[in-house]
Amino acid sequence: MTELATNDFTEILEGRRSIRAYDPQVKIPREEMLAMLDEAAKAPSSVNMQPWRFLIVESEEGKATLNPLIRFNKRQNRTSSAMIVVFGDMLCYERAEEIYGKAANGGIMPKLMSKAKLSAIVPTYKRFSRSKMNDVVKIDSSLFAMQFMLVARSHGYDTNPMGGFEEDRVAAAFGLDAERYVPVMIISIGKATAEGHQSVRLPAKDLSWWR
Ligand SMILES: Cc1cc2nc3c(=O)[nH]c(=O)nc-3n(C[C@H](O)[C@H](O)[C@H](O)COP(=O)(O)O)c2cc1C
Repeated sequence: MTELATNDFTEILEGRRSIRAYDPQVKIPREEMLAMLDEAAKAPSSVNMQPWRFLIVESEEGKATLNPLIRFNKRQNRTSSAMIVVFGDMLCYERAEEIYGKAANGGIMPKLMSKAKLSAIVPTYKRFSRSKMNDVVKIDSSLFAMQFMLVARSHGYDTNPMGGFEEDRVAAAFGLDAERYVPVMIISIGKATAEGHQSVRLPAKDLSWWR
């Protein structure tokens, strides 16, 4: 793990705000970006399938490609260290053997159990309708995304989750298979140049049912 800017959970949680303007001079070293992605990928996922995939847009050329696709979010694209397009992989089960094989070989899971799980999970995933798989990969990838935003704070960076972009065009624009990789959200990341706005939250007591 790279050195953390803060490990104070309350500070991380309360201090996170959507930041839309960053210092454009700040570049995030690839090693640190990978460390943050790995930390965020401690997030849970359905049958541990980890369907999240990442496109890290940081070059001038990449940002220029993204620019026409991000609607009203151009300042984040212009100033951030990177724009991370989080995709869900509709064929995520193709890596099931790798995941469960590693668990068995690493002694985390008995070999027999790993085999049994594989033979139950993969056919189930293959049978999912496109709409069901879309839901599954988006739920899992959203958990990843939230965790990534908190991890980024612990590394001293700020973020903005974005849904305002051309979902149907972003994969193809970067040469990715649009049938396979469904965009979940884009997260800008960088060093904030101004504090974010406070925002209102509805109290849980008004949103809960108790039985
Ligand atoms: C799925 C999702 C999509 C969002 N899309 C955008 C967006 O396109 N542009 C933007 O500036 N903020 C976007 N936001 C940020 C929200 O406006 C923000 O999270 C909310 O106002 C609460 O503020 P906070 O993040 O500072 O706590 C999005 C947030 C989420 C979770």
